[in-house]
Order: sequence, then C-alpha cells, then structure tokens
Amino acid sequence: MSGITTVETQTIQTSVFLPFNSGQSPIALHRLRFTVQMEKRVVLITGCSSGIGLGLAVLLASDSGQRFKVYATMRDLSKKEYLLECVRGCHADTFEILQMDVTDQQSVLATIEKIKENRVDILVCNAGIGLMGPLECHTYYTMKKIFDVNLFGTIGTIQAFLPGMKQRRSGRIIISSSVGGLQGSLNSKTDMLL
Ligand SMILES: NC(=O)c1ccc[n+]([C@@H]2O[C@H](COP(=O)([O-])OP(=O)(O)OC[C@H]3O[C@@H](n4cnc5c(N)ncnc54)[C@H](OP(=O)(O)O)[C@@H]3O)[C@@H](O)[C@H]2O)c1
Repeated sequence: MSGITTVETQTIQTSVFLPFNSGQSPIALHRLRFTVQMEKRVVLITGCSSGIGLGLAVLLASDSGQRFKVYATMRDLSKKEYLLECVRGCHADTFEILQMDVTDQQSVLATIEKIKENRVDILVCNAGIGLMGPLECHTYYTMKKIFDVNLFGTIGTIQAFLPGMKQRRSGRIIISSSVGGLQGSLNSKTDMLL
C-alpha cells in the first residue's frame, strides 16, 4: 500500500425525481442521473492487527461505493502484513495503516497529526485485551493491564478525538465492550468491573 494518495472526495451516482410540472421530458422527470461530489467518511479504528478491528477495517476499505477512508491503527506495525494482504485490491485512497498504542497518549496524539483530512468522523475504540479465569489466579500486573488498555486506553483515545468532533458538532464514537460487562460471570471478574 505504499505511495497511497489521499483523495477527499468521491463521485457517486444518484437518482432524483422531479415534480411533473417542471417542464422536463417525462423520462427526465422520472429519472435524472447526475453526479455529486461527496466527502468520504473518515474512520479511525484501534487494534487492527487481528480480529474484529482487522475485519472491520477490511470491510469498510473494500466498500463498493468507496464511501470510507479507513485509518487502521495498531500498536505494533510489524503485524501489518496480514491486514495488507486482506485489503490488497482495495482502492488505494480508502485505506492507510498507522501506528497507535492506546496506552501511550503521545502515540495517540501523534496519530491525530497524521490524519490528512484533519478530522475523524467515526472513531472505533476496538483495541482491547481479555482476561478469563478465577480472580485469585491473576496477578496485580495482568489485571492492571486490562484497565490500562480497555478502560484508560479507551478514555484516552476518546479524550484525544472528542474535542475535534465537538468543534465540528459532528462525529460518532463506537466502543467495543463485552457482554460480560452486562451479565458477568464468576470466571470473568474483570469484565464485570468494566
Ligand atoms: N471477540 C469476542 O468475542 C469479544 C468478546 C468481548 C469483548 N471483545 C472486545 O472486542 C474487541 C476486539 O476483540 P477481538 O476478538 O477482535 O480481539 P483481538 O483479535 O485480540 O484484537 C484485539 C486488538 O487490540 C489490540 N491491542 C491490544 N492492546 C493494545 C494497545 N495497547 N494499543 C492498541 N491496540 C491494542 C491488539 O493488538 P496486538 O495484536 O498488538 O495485541 C489487537 O489488534 C476487544 O476490545 C475485546 O476486548 C471481544
């Protein structure tokens, strides 16, 4: 995907219906096809090296209408090969990979600077780690890591992108959580806490 150029607009075909008294021929009245310039939605997804983040990045980047510009972020760029393989064939201006560790606020802020459109329309806070098993089997470090990534990592990411959305009075934030946070289980204390 090297040498990607960013194009802010895309061309889409739209059908419109005009009122019968507009002086046009019947065919034109019924269906006038014209071209409009429409901006792509800029989507930033965290945790795209695998799983749901990777799948969502590929899905949006391969949208047949090219409606999205996807910034797929991951903490370790050495894991990008599989994602690159999955998006091979996608339109070059729908996709870009950036490094971002949600537990490192400097890396989050540096990512904002790299967004060519200077805005994110949809932020997907997907990065997360899981921890299963009885509470007494986990160390303080492993449990704290869950909170650092899943809770404070998500909060830090939102804190970085929310001001821009508020300023534009537009934006959407999607957060991956766990059903364990709602129903809980004896084996999943950390999900219950989140
Ligand atoms: N799949 C499920 O059934 C399920 C159930 C409940 C909740 N969830 C939640 O849904 C989200 C996605 O799950 P998944 O199944 O797709 O998991 P996954 O395949 O393990 O993907 C998690 C992603 O988060 C990344 N990540 C971890 N720590 C990070 C950090 N500090 N900064 C940036 N990225 C980080 C991982 O990167 P690395 O490869 O570098 O580790 C990976 O790309 C997670 O938040 C998870 O907790 C999933």
